[in-house]
Order: sequence, then C-alpha cells, then structure tokens
Amino acid sequence: MKQLEELTRQARATAAPAMAAEQPVHWHGHARQATPAASLTGDETEVARVMQICNACRYCEGFCAVFPAMTRRLEFGKADINYLANLCHNCGACLHACQYAPPHEFGVNVPQAMAKVRVQTYSDYAWPAALGKLYKHNGLTLSLAAAGALALFLVLTVAITGGLLHEPLAGNFYAIFPHNTLALMFGLVFVFALLALGLGVARFWRDVSPGAASGAAVAEATHDALRLKYLDGGHGKGCNNADDAFTLARRRFHHFTFYGFMLCFAATCVATVYHYVFGWQAPYPFLSLPVLLGTAGGVGLLVGPAGLLWLNLRRHPLHGDAAQRPMDRGFIALLFLTSLTGLLLLALRDTSAMGLLLAIHLGVVMALFLTLPYGKFAHGIYRCAALLKWAIEKRQPDPLKLGAD
Ligand code: HEM
Ligand code: HEM
Ligand code: SF4
Ligand code: SF4
Repeated sequence: MKQLEELTRQARATAAPAMAAEQPVHWHGHARQATPAASLTGDETEVARVMQICNACRYCEGFCAVFPAMTRRLEFGKADINYLANLCHNCGACLHACQYAPPHEFGVNVPQAMAKVRVQTYSDYAWPAALGKLYKHNGLTLSLAAAGALALFLVLTVAITGGLLHEPLAGNFYAIFPHNTLALMFGLVFVFALLALGLGVARFWRDVSPGAASGAAVAEATHDALRLKYLDGGHGKGCNNADDAFTLARRRFHHFTFYGFMLCFAATCVATVYHYVFGWQAPYPFLSLPVLLGTAGGVGLLVGPAGLLWLNLRRHPLHGDAAQRPMDRGFIALLFLTSLTGLLLLALRDTSAMGLLLAIHLGVVMALFLTLPYGKFAHGIYRCAALLKWAIEKRQPDPLKLGAD
C-alpha cells in the first residue's frame, strides 16, 4: 500500500506541473508520444492525469472496460483519451470506490473528467465543423429549435385550415399536411442528421485507429450496447446515482427510453411501407401494427425519460459535468414531449383539435430531428463506436505484455 501511495504521488507530481504548463505528460520516462501534450486541452490533460494514477492503482479493474483498456497503455494521447471518454458509461462506480476521490489531495474523479472530454469529442468531430459549437450552448440550441419548429407548424396549420381548430376530420391528417410534404420535410432533415452523425463518428473512428472488426467483435459490441452492460457496475447490482448505493434503475429506465424510441421508429417504418407499398392511407385502426408499435413505444418513451429525469435530478453532483445538464435534461424533455404529443394526437384524432395537436407533435419531432446530430443523441453513436473499438482491441495481443517473460 505504501508503495502504491508512492507511485500515485509520483504520478501526481509528474502530472501537476505538466497540467499547468500544458507540457507532455511522461510516465515511465517514455520519449515516444502519441500526441504532443501541448495539443491536449485542459480537460484532456486531466483525463491523462487520472489515468496515470489509476494505472498505478488498478483497484477498479473489474468495474468496466475503461480500466482494462487503460492498462494496455502507458501514455495517453488525444485519440486514446477520446476513446476512453466515450467508453466510460458514467456509472459512477469508480468515483464511489476511490480512496483518492475528492476531498483527497489527488482529487481523482474519473467519471467527471471523462464526461467533460466526451462532450468535447462530439463538438471536435462534428460535421460541419462550425456547427460543433452548438453542443456548447445546447440549452439555447434546443430552445430555439423547439420554438422555431413549433411556430412553423402552428403558422402552417393556420395558413392551411384558416384557424387552429376545425371540423372533425376523422383522423385524416393529410387533409391538413399532405403526406408528400411531410415526407419531404422530415426525410431531408433526417437524412442530414444521419449524414452529420455518420461523418462525425467516421472521423472519430479514423483517429482511434481500431483495426479490422471481426464478426465476434461486432456481435459483442452490439450485445454490450443493447444490454447497457457497463451500467451494471461490473457485479450486476447496478450503477450509482445519488450516493454509494447501487441501483439498476438507470439501466432500466434507459431500456424503456431506448426500446421505446426504437418501437416508435419501427411504427414509422411500417406506416411508410403501408403507404407506399400497399397504398393504405392513415389513419390506421387502433389495433393495426403501426399504431400498436407506436403506442407500446410511446408508453416506453414516457416511462423511460420520466425515470431518467427523476434520476438525473438526484444524481450525485460529482458524477458529471454541471455544464452539460441543460443538454441532458433538454434531450430527456424532448423525448418525453414527442411521445406525449403523439399519444395525445392518437387519443384525440377524431376531434376538432386534431390539427392543433398534429402541429404540436410535428413541431416537437422536427426539433428532435434538427438537434439529433448536435445534442445528447450523439452519445449513443459514439459509445457504440467506442464499445466496438474495445471489442476489437481486447482480441489483439496486449502490447505491454509482449515479451514480458
Ligand atoms: C417523421 C416524423 C413523424 C411524423 C410525420 C409523425 C406523425 C404522427 C401521426 C400522424 C400520429 C398519429 C397516428 C395515429 O393517430 O394513428 C403520430 C403518433 C405518434 N407519434 Fe409521431 N410522427 C413522427 C415521428 C415520431 C417520432 C420520431 C416519435 C418518437 C420517437 C413519434 C412518436 C409518436 C407516438 C408515440 C405516437 C402515438 C402512437 C401512435 O399513434 O402510433 N413520432 N405521429
Ligand atoms: C445505442 C446505444 C446507446 C448507448 C450505449 C447508450 C448509453 C447511455 C449511457 C451509458 C448513458 C448514461 C450516461 C450519460 O448520461 O452519459 C446514457 C444516457 C442517456 N441515454 Fe443513452 N445510449 C444509447 C442510445 C440511446 C438512445 C437511442 C436514446 C434515445 C433516443 C438514449 C437516451 C438517453 C438519455 C435520455 C440519457 C440521459 C440520461 C441522463 O442524463 O440522466 N440513449 N445512454
Ligand atoms: S478510480 Fe481511484 S480507486 Fe479506482 S483505479 Fe483509479 S485511483 Fe484507483
Ligand atoms: S464511471 Fe463507471 S464506466 Fe466510467 S470509468 Fe468509472 S467505472 Fe467505468
């Protein structure tokens, strides 16, 4: 233990001046460096500092993939830091277990250091680069997108129907907004969102140079993402939220959110096939496949975000980066409102309020689509990429153990 204290003290002594002067962080006196440390930001330098202390300590090795990935490295360049930041699931386990966490003078807070770098990677890799700034003012971005999109659809409704209320139309949505107009508007925004996220994550992927992905690696990464393996704390009892007690609630509410979203997406795909392939026009009966999928997904997307918001409001302040709260909570609220307005529209589609509710639902969905590539949604894509990189890396020989004997 004394030896460990000495090692960690050395790590801190090496890292602290490096941080101040933005100089290279050396460990074991290595001359070769992946990235000149001068190009590391303050937040990246902090990740390099805590990783060097953790590399000496290794107490948290069993919690998640970050620690075994860390032990394969002696020094941490920009690409390594970005990769590890996106591999971290912010479960909080290593903060609550750490004997060097604040108020200890070492001030080791892995989840917070990783969270700060994570949002920076989204911003740095964003396409087009100029829009990367939107991550930094995400509360404002979300508010403007929501206000603009709602105003647009409300004005269009008034222009088309002459008012916000109308004679009941028996759920004939396309009497207000023609199907092709909606398909064009949403299709364009959605394709742009996919392109922007795809190009951003492709740049991240090139930087972390993962090597070729085998079928087994892809299967493992998919499994880990779909089950949110690393929110189980490494022992299956769950992660931390408000304090050092374990909870599976974050994982479960995320499952409601994720699978609810996927079911809503599936409902839209089935409805598109109905429309274009079979020529069947909406409104679809309550027991039809698109409405059943949409309703089940909608319930998931109410329960999940409500639970995540409740947990987020109780989250231990040291877990994350306070500056990202507007982004996290704004995204949760937008998901909740998408589902709420969709379900209200379904329930009241035969009434004279259908046009108004349709305009509100479409406004919220448009705000969600517009902000997909420049908000919290990016976490899913980048985390999947980091999980795949880990699944590839763990199958490669460990460079530090080569020739150890
Ligand atoms: C492409 C853009 C979208 C359009 C044009 C659209 C349009 C509609 C319409 C017309 C309804 C009423 C269906 C009915 O009463 O039978 C509806 C319902 C609903 N929407 Fe959307 N929506 C879109 C995207 C989304 C997204 C992305 C979500 C959630 C992720 C969502 C969630 C819901 C839910 C939960 C319902 C109620 C359940 C149902 O009727 O299936 N919508 N939407
Ligand atoms: C595809 C793989 C995905 C993975 C691996 C993943 C993983 C995670 C993890 C580990 C967190 C907790 C840590 C954090 O706040 O950063 C989180 C938060 C969250 N995720 Fe995901 N996610 C994925 C996709 C999605 C999708 C598709 C949605 C919804 C459309 C979603 C909605 C959320 C929300 C709302 C939060 C915020 C919770 C909070 O701030 O308390 N996630 N995700
Ligand atoms: S977080 Fe703390 S306890 Fe865990 S490995 Fe790092 S220094 Fe050790
Ligand atoms: S917060 Fe959780 S996921 Fe992140 S490094 Fe610590 S133990 Fe791993």
